[in-house]
Amino acid sequence: MTAPLLEVDDLRTWFRTDRGIVHAVDGVSLTVGRTQSVGIVGESGSGKSVLARSIMGLLPPRRTLHPSGRISFEGQDLAQLPARRLRRLWGAEIAMVFQNPMTALNPVVRIGRQLTECLPGLSGAAARAKAVELLRSVGIPAPERRLAEYPHSLSGGMRQRVTIAMALARDPKLLIADEPTTALDVTVQAQILDLLERKRKELEMSMIIITHDLGVVAGRTDSIVVMYAGKVVERAPTRTLFARPRMPYTEALLKAIPRIDDPPHTRLDAIGGRPPDLVDPGPGCRFRDRCRYAQPRCALEEPPLRPAETPGHEYACWFPVGTPEGAAAAGADARTAGRPAISVEA
Ligand SMILES: Nc1ncnc2c1ncn2[C@@H]1O[C@H](COP(=O)(O)OP(=O)(O)OP(=O)(O)O)[C@@H](O)[C@H]1O
Ligand code: SF4
Ligand SMILES: [Mg+2]
Repeated sequence: MTAPLLEVDDLRTWFRTDRGIVHAVDGVSLTVGRTQSVGIVGESGSGKSVLARSIMGLLPPRRTLHPSGRISFEGQDLAQLPARRLRRLWGAEIAMVFQNPMTALNPVVRIGRQLTECLPGLSGAAARAKAVELLRSVGIPAPERRLAEYPHSLSGGMRQRVTIAMALARDPKLLIADEPTTALDVTVQAQILDLLERKRKELEMSMIIITHDLGVVAGRTDSIVVMYAGKVVERAPTRTLFARPRMPYTEALLKAIPRIDDPPHTRLDAIGGRPPDLVDPGPGCRFRDRCRYAQPRCALEEPPLRPAETPGHEYACWFPVGTPEGAAAAGADARTAGRPAISVEA
């Protein structure tokens, strides 16, 4: 059996800070199969970008405690690869698209040059022709004219298309898109997501889409991984996750999917309270202070990820949604005064 494209096993990425050690990614495992798309969902600070940066080798060296766990790509343990091979891998075989296209683009360099710099081995007319082809393939009109322009002359959506073209320049096997549409107008968001999905299919790539909005990955990824406070709390094939969420945090995220008539950037206000401090998250379930199903056990014992009844579905919760234990806990909670509850708008 061939190895999955990417396997992350029990990854811990911690940072040294003045306040103590931040447990940003705390025992995360993840598998991405060939040509598969995986959504990673969680609110701000849950460790999504740190996970992506750990995979890409983009961690600040002096602040990062030596990451533990294993990241393997095509069966090779990245920690064992020589530095030259690693540098080739990142950018060529694993590429990344960021939230703000201007962080990936140099404002004082023409678009054509930025693209041809992503095309080692090509120069002159061949590099130019390939740059035009790349721009055309991501839906940029009049690509020949764009080569001579600077990033500021493009709209946000067009700039993001350029960064996608740059990320695809070396035909990566895995594309990691970290909130690729959060900085864009709502109308442009769907176009960019559809473009990414089209390119994934065309190029037979695998893709990780990181987002705080479950609505972004709905119907677009094969599976979804939900992160909370540095941990994976639920994972499932996309359809299963939407139909039968087990972890109360996932349920709350589902209810927080913005409606079409909501103003932009109001995503998770519907979940009351805040995640725990990652310097000292304390014992038990990290969602306990915000969970309407929480019981005394939740403050004492951390729930492990365990399999649900359908294949590929796992969740970490003692009183799961949609089970008799969960129903009893939610009932008990309604009678318990003073505990913070998730307030979700209908
Ligand atoms: N270099 C660093 N040094 C110290 N702490 C860090 C560093 N980078 C990230 N963190 C902390 O790690 C935690 C996870 O951050 P991360 O950026 O991965 O969150 P995120 O899920 O991507 O959130 P967002 O949706 O806001 O992008 C946060 O508490 C953050 O403050
Ligand atoms: S019921 Fe308990 S274990 Fe489950 S999410 Fe709520 S606090 Fe965590
Ligand atoms: Mg982030």
